[in-house]
Amino acid sequence: MTDQPEPTPAAVNLERRVRRHAHAPEHAWFAACSPGLEALLADEARGLGLGHIVATGGGVTFRGRLESGYRANLHLRTATRVWLRVAEFPARAPEDVYREAREIPWEAFLPTGLPLMLQATTARSRLFGGGFLGRPLRDAIGRRLRALALQDPEWTDDSADDDPEDAGRDSLRRPAQRLLARLDGNRLTLSLDSSGERLHRRGFRLEHGGAPLRETLAAAILLAAGYDGSRGLADPMCGSGTFAVEAAAIARRLPPGRDREFLFRHWPSYRAATWEHLRRTARDGALAAAPAPLLCRDADPAALELARAHARRAGVESDLLFEAADFFASPAPATPPGLVVLNPPYGVRLDAGGDPVAFFRRVGLRLASAWPGWSIAAVAPSPATEDALGLPRARRLPLSHGGLRVTVVLAGP
Ligand SMILES: C[S@@+](CC[C@H](N)C(=O)[O-])C[C@H]1O[C@@H](n2cnc3c(N)ncnc32)[C@H](O)[C@@H]1O
Repeated sequence: MTDQPEPTPAAVNLERRVRRHAHAPEHAWFAACSPGLEALLADEARGLGLGHIVATGGGVTFRGRLESGYRANLHLRTATRVWLRVAEFPARAPEDVYREAREIPWEAFLPTGLPLMLQATTARSRLFGGGFLGRPLRDAIGRRLRALALQDPEWTDDSADDDPEDAGRDSLRRPAQRLLARLDGNRLTLSLDSSGERLHRRGFRLEHGGAPLRETLAAAILLAAGYDGSRGLADPMCGSGTFAVEAAAIARRLPPGRDREFLFRHWPSYRAATWEHLRRTARDGALAAAPAPLLCRDADPAALELARAHARRAGVESDLLFEAADFFASPAPATPPGLVVLNPPYGVRLDAGGDPVAFFRRVGLRLASAWPGWSIAAVAPSPATEDALGLPRARRLPLSHGGLRVTVVLAGP
């Protein structure tokens, strides 16, 4: 595919190409999420005013200029990653991939100085598998950039990211620009990651050995329970405090991406003024304090210390109350009833010291006797533990948590 002589490099006005191909058009974007969260993510996207929102399997598509992508990254609480769809075309053979990919204005999109990482997936394709996509894509991109006297990108070969549940490995890697090539039947979609590390990494999590909920899941559970910060919240088994920290951010309208890096800031199209304007607008719209009380309790004082440190780093420590207390021996707080969220220990994640069904039955009985008037959102690891909670009119939201299927049981007062 590279047997023809390379053309003489053309002098390229990169800035003009960036304006024409990256700034001027509306782009198609894909915000990915954990399976089961698509409808919640679509609601969030609507709330943000993003255009042409469609919920599909595994995420939400929307349309908009680059600023929409910045906004999605800054504000979406339940998205895992935001992808910019660079091109979509029919591809029946590697030659098609090479020919079409050479026409894509990569020079306007790819960051210089970061290696490219190809993630190829195929579905319903009888003609060739994901492994065949790499060669023509590398050749086409390299040839296009060299023809413009630009540097051939360095490629890094790390496919460990394929597992969407893979926690924590992102941050150990050198930043790279992911290029997703998805062949579905004979349609190939090429997308660039605009986020970088997955978005559950808000930038303030302290590493520890517990069983924290991902921030994206915690936010999804709060939003599914209708939490908007106007009523109180209590997490009586708070662990590292993920629910309460996410709740404080929702209550104060602090964007989840306020404190982290994004890959789009390495793109040649990046406009610091646009980004700073978005951040400033978000800051101006945030409340100085949460309007209703947020309580973190745990039987383990070390967990509470971690929750406090976590909240401090997230800038919401003053919104939270911390109490060491055994759930089974303490009353509900003396504040007006609000939402009680629970992610009890269970099975492979933490040893509950016995039978999980019996433990969840005790949790349900305690909620019924000590928390009258409170709405409930509880994470349960199995149908038997869901039932053991004894909440007959509850809604059930199936989710995936660290590769495990769990259900969030949601009940009104
Ligand atoms: C699965 S962890 C919660 C993780 C938390 N959602 C997070 O994101 O970090 C369960 C927590 O329940 C606490 N716990 C277990 N039994 C308890 C009890 N009887 N009363 C209060 N806390 C308890 C444990 O100390 C642990 O921190």
